[in-house]
Amino acid sequence: MTRPIAQHPHAVKTVVVPAAGLGTRFLPATKTVPKELLPVVDTPGIELIADEAAALGASRLAVITAPGKAGVLAHFDAAPELEEVLEARGKTEQLDKVRHSSRIIEACPVTQDKPLGLGHAVGLAESVLDEDEDVVAVMLPDDLVLPVGVMEEMARVRREFGGSVLCAVCVPDDEVSNYGVFDVAEVDGREDVRRVVGMVEKPAREDAPSNLVATGRYLLDRDIFDALHRITPGKGGELQLTDAIELLISEGHPVHVVVHRGHRHDLGNPGGYIRACVDFGLSHPTYGPGLRRAIDQILAEHDAAAAGAADRAGD
Ligand code: G1P
Repeated sequence: MTRPIAQHPHAVKTVVVPAAGLGTRFLPATKTVPKELLPVVDTPGIELIADEAAALGASRLAVITAPGKAGVLAHFDAAPELEEVLEARGKTEQLDKVRHSSRIIEACPVTQDKPLGLGHAVGLAESVLDEDEDVVAVMLPDDLVLPVGVMEEMARVRREFGGSVLCAVCVPDDEVSNYGVFDVAEVDGREDVRRVVGMVEKPAREDAPSNLVATGRYLLDRDIFDALHRITPGKGGELQLTDAIELLISEGHPVHVVVHRGHRHDLGNPGGYIRACVDFGLSHPTYGPGLRRAIDQILAEHDAAAAGAADRAGD
């Protein structure tokens, strides 16, 4: 049973986590292991998202999965046999780690049978919402937005301006076409907030209205579901969340972005994933110091090998 909305500090009860993708960029690992369960140090990416959702005060994680990805939901179940063994062995630290995901939030499955796009995936979550919810959060598990806390800031901006609030980061020109891009107007006296006057999914570099792009954190008015029913397939032939947000903007619905100045990781491809592991690994009290020494040594070896190769080429 989820609690009434009044018991949620930021008035957000449900966080939708689209996790139905095939994870083709991570094959062969994702042949049997869902991408969202790959660990950053020792914690699956989806548990980091669940922690962020719980910190926001949400009580329900609506996980959109595809057939064959049941393991994602299973991560939020209790594991009685494993817990019993750990308890009998007095391994309390590991026991706490095993229990954590099943205790912080109620994970609720939503199945997306066909890969029809992010907009379609988010639209499916409407079926799990209660009547007292007038806003829904969406967190894309590929995106780690750090330090955690931007959703709370977005909730404050929503209290001030109403409507929907998204998270924006500034990227270089040659990266804009990978993202949903915002067309924005200044908000008087506010460095961190912009009003969104338009949004376009993955435009060509020359057509991008700005360098401010969407980075996987959304606080969407419940009206989004009505807009999602009205859009038609867009970029890549898929139903795009960006297009539903653009439709709301065109109808006068207030949309703002919080401009995030921290850093972020893209867990959606091996290159970004490795960087996240190094970043989290270096900050880890147990593994950090050794990892730092190992990285120095690996760099020295690679540099020496590269210098040797350059010498031989010059001979
Ligand atoms: C999705 C959204 C895009 C957003 C991006 C953030 O794209 O469609 O608007 O900017 O996430 O990571 P995807 O990365 O799933 O292609």
